[in-house]
Amino acid sequence: MIYSKISGTGAYLPEKILTNADLEKIVNTNDQWVRERTGIEQRHISADDELCSDLGSKAAQQAIDNAGISVADIELIVVATSTPDRMFPSTACIIQSKLGAKCPAFDITAACSGFVYALSIADNYVRAGVAKNVLIIGAETYSRILNWKDRNTCVLFGDGAGAVVLKASDEPGVMSVNIGADGDHQDLLGIPWGVSQGYDALTEGSKWFDMKGNEVFKHAVKTMSAIALEVLQENGFDPHATDYWLIPHQANIRILKSTAKKMKLDQSKVIVSVDKHANTSAASIPLAMHGALETGKIKSGDLAVLEAFGGGLTWGAALVRL
Ligand SMILES: CC(C)(COP(=O)(O)OP(=O)(O)OC[C@H]1O[C@@H](n2cnc3c(N)ncnc32)[C@H](O)[C@@H]1OP(=O)(O)O)[C@@H](O)C(=O)NCCC(=O)NCCS
Repeated sequence: MIYSKISGTGAYLPEKILTNADLEKIVNTNDQWVRERTGIEQRHISADDELCSDLGSKAAQQAIDNAGISVADIELIVVATSTPDRMFPSTACIIQSKLGAKCPAFDITAACSGFVYALSIADNYVRAGVAKNVLIIGAETYSRILNWKDRNTCVLFGDGAGAVVLKASDEPGVMSVNIGADGDHQDLLGIPWGVSQGYDALTEGSKWFDMKGNEVFKHAVKTMSAIALEVLQENGFDPHATDYWLIPHQANIRILKSTAKKMKLDQSKVIVSVDKHANTSAASIPLAMHGALETGKIKSGDLAVLEAFGGGLTWGAALVRL
């Protein structure tokens, strides 16, 4: 039996930091409101000439180094992003070139659930014996799509990238990954234009990231608690009698706290990094996981539930032995 296992992680946050105090000069907001409602203290913003692929390449190179392999060992690159460099070619192809890799490469779009979706794909490639080392990257440049005049949304997001190398292993690693979607709620959050719809708006700049925050909040808490419990139970673990970490998508501290409360999980077992980088969409889980591994909070051999929720609506949860 072939399993997949996370063998290396990496992260990259752009140098420029925008604090809540800095935001007070841009929109009618204040540090206290943002901290209390979201837990966010600051976000990183990429430079004008710093592309999604640049962020992703840096996180990826670190993950490759930490996995103790070389770029030549990578057999597939999957990039989760909603803010690609270009419509096409894929950001994965651009990252492949920047890294000097020689392997298939493609993007997937599942908004904030993108990393768990990519993990699901990569896990299946490894389990099927098609690839031994898969590079998964979540990379985002949300600063480019935010409406910086809308205080309801611009305070919530930031730029960044996280990456993992998933390798073939005799023992699990990734125990299972569940993903789901409900397109009936497509208008709750997203960008209401693309190629075949409202393409002209791209130059107008009149339509930006849009979200019904309160409704998203309710869906997020309900879904995040349910899918985390489900992935534990289906693998034979009693959620209330098992020692595990929750590494959730970092959207809002109140969503994380409410999720843990519903799961009857002690808050100390929830990995939190949203304070330092805000919501970085598909990048947030690998960023949080890398930080917790790097500081030694999470150790090799620990059990963790990775889970996300986002536009689509989409969601996903994975149970992993790190
Ligand atoms: C967006 C969110 C933080 C708003 O928090 P909330 O407690 O629901 O706040 P409300 O939207 O009810 O707004 C309350 C008030 O704060 C105001 N407000 C909104 N943004 C503000 C800001 N940045 N600074 C100050 N005031 C703000 C509103 O205008 C409103 O004022 P009013 O009562 O005078 O109309 C919250 O709904 C949320 O986190 N939703 C989920 C968003 C998310 O994580 N999306 C991504 C999921 S992947």
